[in-house]
Amino acid sequence: MKTHRLALIPGDGIGVDVTDAAMAVVRQAAAGRFALDTETFPWSCAFYHETGAMMPEDGIETLRRFDAIYLGAVGWPQSVPDSVSLHGLLLPIRKAFDQYANIRPHRLLRGVEGPLKAEGFDILCIRENTEGEYSGAGGRVHPGRDNEVATEVAIFTRKGVERILRFGFDQARARRGHLTSVTKSNAQKYSMVFWDEVTRELAAEYPDVTVSHMHIDAMAAKMVMAPQDLDVVVASNLFGDILTDLGAAIQGGLGFAASANICPDGSGPSMFEPVHGSAPDIAGKGIANPIAAIWSAAMMLEHLGEVEAAADILRAVESATAQGIGTRPGSHSTDEITAAVLAAMATCP
Ligand code: NAI
Ligand code: MG
Repeated sequence: MKTHRLALIPGDGIGVDVTDAAMAVVRQAAAGRFALDTETFPWSCAFYHETGAMMPEDGIETLRRFDAIYLGAVGWPQSVPDSVSLHGLLLPIRKAFDQYANIRPHRLLRGVEGPLKAEGFDILCIRENTEGEYSGAGGRVHPGRDNEVATEVAIFTRKGVERILRFGFDQARARRGHLTSVTKSNAQKYSMVFWDEVTRELAAEYPDVTVSHMHIDAMAAKMVMAPQDLDVVVASNLFGDILTDLGAAIQGGLGFAASANICPDGSGPSMFEPVHGSAPDIAGKGIANPIAAIWSAAMMLEHLGEVEAAADILRAVESATAQGIGTRPGSHSTDEITAAVLAAMATCP
């Protein structure tokens, strides 16, 4: 039997509750199929208070030994600035392991009522996670004077653009065969025209995938008006950031939004996490929706090659939501939703 080594970082607030829920589901899905070797790391804002750092100095080297990383949520803004918690843990992990593909499935689960009539809404958003508008290149000159200047330079490399698009084409091939590339090449005439060119070059290698080119503004409208026409969506760091919040809203909110930070060549572990944060407003109340976390764990199992276990989990989640469990904020506790998923998994063939 194969053994998967998982590094668990529950983090802060509801991150801890939803990680427990997701791991209970993963353990049941593993039974009879594969073994798990998990290690839990207490890296969090509490850890920061104790040690002065979000993770130990050798944290990255420690994580490198694992097959995958699962993260709940990190942040406790009352006592640790978000810039510290983000730059001390999440961002270094994404960077160290070159997790350049941030992927988020947006789908309306049965029984969930989103704000739109979006039946058949089922898309995979792929956001470039390492460069583009969030490269950090730029500067400020003449601070505080009336001629003050601030620049923020978007960096698009051939390597970066090509690899994220290639990842998107591969995903489209494995899904419904359609890829939408999102740019703003009418206004941004260097970087986005370049992006369009690379898309066309790669499209020639994927004759079985149909390609649409959309501008970000039109794309925002399309996601509201006809989201069911989309399949795989590939976008730059900034555009992907915005579109995935829209996608999460259409699918019913943060309680349902799952994500993965993938290192596609496997040179480092990939990281799986719900999109939501530590939700200090509901932390400790036992009412966090664990579905986003459970779905993220299913993505992790799929990435590890446990395709059947992953599919079982998603079927069980949808069987629970179809009965109205976990579909409205506060209607069920974290434990009740988790129990419903576990029960559905036990009865599904
Ligand atoms: P948040 O996602 O934690 O919460 C936003 C709102 O959504 C809150 O009202 C919360 O109660 C609700 N919510 C979120 N997840 C929920 C769930 N599973 N079930 C039910 N309701 C849920 O975002 P916020 O408040 O802006 O950030 C709180 C902390 O989390 C900050 O420190 C922030 O930096 C951090 N954060 C961490 C992330 C990560 O670890 N990847 C991602 C986003 C925020
Ligand atoms: Mg965002």
